[in-house]
Amino acid sequence: MRILAIETSCDETAIALTEAEGGLNSPRFKILKSAVASQIKIHRPFGGVVPSLAKREHQKNLPLIFKKVISEKDISSLDLIAVTVGPGLEPALWQGISFAKEISKAYGKPLLGVNHLEGHIYSNWINPSVGLPKFPAISLIVSGGHTILSFMKDIKTWKILGSTRDDAVGEAFDKVARMLKLPYPGGPEIERAAKKGKNIIDFPSPMLHSSDFDFSFSGLKTAVLYYLRDNKKINKNDICASFQSAAFEVLIKKTLRAAKTYKAKSVLLSGGVASSLALRAFFKKEVKKNDLNFFAPGLKLNTDNAAMISAAAYINFLRKKKKPLKADGNMEI
Ligand code: KG4
Ligand code: ZN
Repeated sequence: MRILAIETSCDETAIALTEAEGGLNSPRFKILKSAVASQIKIHRPFGGVVPSLAKREHQKNLPLIFKKVISEKDISSLDLIAVTVGPGLEPALWQGISFAKEISKAYGKPLLGVNHLEGHIYSNWINPSVGLPKFPAISLIVSGGHTILSFMKDIKTWKILGSTRDDAVGEAFDKVARMLKLPYPGGPEIERAAKKGKNIIDFPSPMLHSSDFDFSFSGLKTAVLYYLRDNKKINKNDICASFQSAAFEVLIKKTLRAAKTYKAKSVLLSGGVASSLALRAFFKKEVKKNDLNFFAPGLKLNTDNAAMISAAAYINFLRKKKKPLKADGNMEI
């Protein structure tokens, strides 16, 4: 079936057209068209996303990219329209929902609401380079808004094992980058600087030894702040390398412990922070060492995009699951 998906939960306006087929055991996706209008430059001077600006930009960009990406012929072949309904910034979500409702009405096509986090998880099923994930699996979502570790019994059944008690890991990257006067978004900047630095500063990996599967990144962020306060001569690259390594350490430790506890066969990594080549390489090495299969979506599918929303829409369509077509900023997975 052909799915047109719309994503506006944060600062990316994204539209994709995807061909989906297969059942729940082996869903397959082909991205026919995909466009993302990034608002990074607009939010950069503020060091983070400004909801009112995000809303304004989505409103401006949606009709433009829709026109650019989707032809009349594409519309006539559509089976379903999908739109992110949460979690995210509500004013931003509403722009996508209103636009999706308009085109659904204008062209007489059904409309399905999608959970953004399910989009991140199911991005692992789009063009997988190493076959489909085997179950049971452990999924780790690492983004600007979430750090969620969950157990997946099969493609449609999961339970959350743990999440962050304060900052999401991507948020910590963005905040530490701001302390170091690096531009927003901080993740790619820190990754770049870390490559030139050495992991020689002993920052704590918070909750590394706690027996639960929760995370906490605000202590690590504060440790960087104190280090900057207490040291006159600093090497930004070493700070980035040491911070990044402390953050990655706790992510892998908890993921592997969850995999062992739940006898998982696969580990799935997704979300914006999963576009870090350093994190992917580290996870791949550690996961394989433990005889598990490792999955991470293709590079462009980690940061927010609409192809992942079409993948989640298809799985929900197969499951006959519907979400209310209204913005829910705090929607849970
Ligand atoms: O999934 P995403 O695009 O948006 C949310 O749903 O939050 O994730 C954005 C987050 C930002 O915090 C950004 O700094 C982080 O992903 N990020 C990275 C890298 N690229 C993006 N973090 C670490 N290393 C990267 N290379
Ligand atoms: Zn996201």
